[in-house]
Amino acid sequence: MALFTALALTALPALAQNGEKIAKTGNAAGAPACMTCHGASGQGQPAAGFPRLAGLNPVYFVRQLQSFHDTTRVNPIMAPIAQQLNDADRQALAAYYAGLAVTNPDGEAPADAKSLSAGETLAQRGDWSRGVPACAQCHGPKGLGVGAVFPQIAGQSATYITSQLQAWQAGTRKNDPLGLMHGIALKLSPTDIGAVAAYYGSLDAVPSTKRSVKP
Ligand code: HEC
Ligand code: HEC
Repeated sequence: MALFTALALTALPALAQNGEKIAKTGNAAGAPACMTCHGASGQGQPAAGFPRLAGLNPVYFVRQLQSFHDTTRVNPIMAPIAQQLNDADRQALAAYYAGLAVTNPDGEAPADAKSLSAGETLAQRGDWSRGVPACAQCHGPKGLGVGAVFPQIAGQSATYITSQLQAWQAGTRKNDPLGLMHGIALKLSPTDIGAVAAYYGSLDAVPSTKRSVKP
């Protein structure tokens, strides 16, 4: 076990190693250690609304840091941190977090069955009478994300998903390509948001091998 870990670490490319250093100890410009909030292995802190960073697509990751910096994504916690990162730091952190394994969250409070089933319907089918597209169209059938543009939302905490949908409604997050999420969020009621956030929060963050293998 220890030998494997040591080998894996020495095999990490230099870029990811620089990212790991900043994530664990911060940088000389004053950026704090990311792990304080995003967890020692990048899994986030569901109850606090600190998102998981492990496994995020690196292009998406860099763009979010730029957005916190240019305030197209307004957040009082991340804004000052993003100011203290330069381009090389952003690339290094993105490489490091992209390489971390995703694990399933343990211990988010289970949502009620009615809310989960309403959330599933919205996520998988949308509601065309109100012009709400299925989330799955862009985020993938299981919410695991598609490429650099559509991030994984499965297994991100309900608290965080809710806060992001509210931010798009309020216009404090307006960094999304073509305003796709802003337009969708405006059509969602508070009940919709609670339901869809509970649904995605309840999904596995890691593709389940058990379920993907056909009997
Ligand atoms: C004091 C707590 C704190 C620290 C330290 C912190 N973050 Fe964050 N981070 C947050 C919060 C809160 C959010 C959610 C912001 C929002 O709601 O828009 C966030 C969001 C993010 C996101 C967006 C994730 C997504 O899915 O869109 C990225 C990327 C990120 N942080 C990177 C970092 C990096 C890199 C560092 C270290 C240099 C760091 N954070 C340090 C609290 C923190
Ligand atoms: C037409 C495509 C599209 C559809 C449909 C869509 N999304 Fe998104 N979503 C996006 C894009 C693009 C982003 C990334 C925005 C960015 O780059 O900041 C995103 C980001 C998100 C995020 C932020 C993830 C993070 O890590 O911060 C959440 C949460 C989210 N979407 C939830 C939903 C929900 C819930 C639905 C269904 C009601 C939905 N989306 C439907 C395109 C879509």
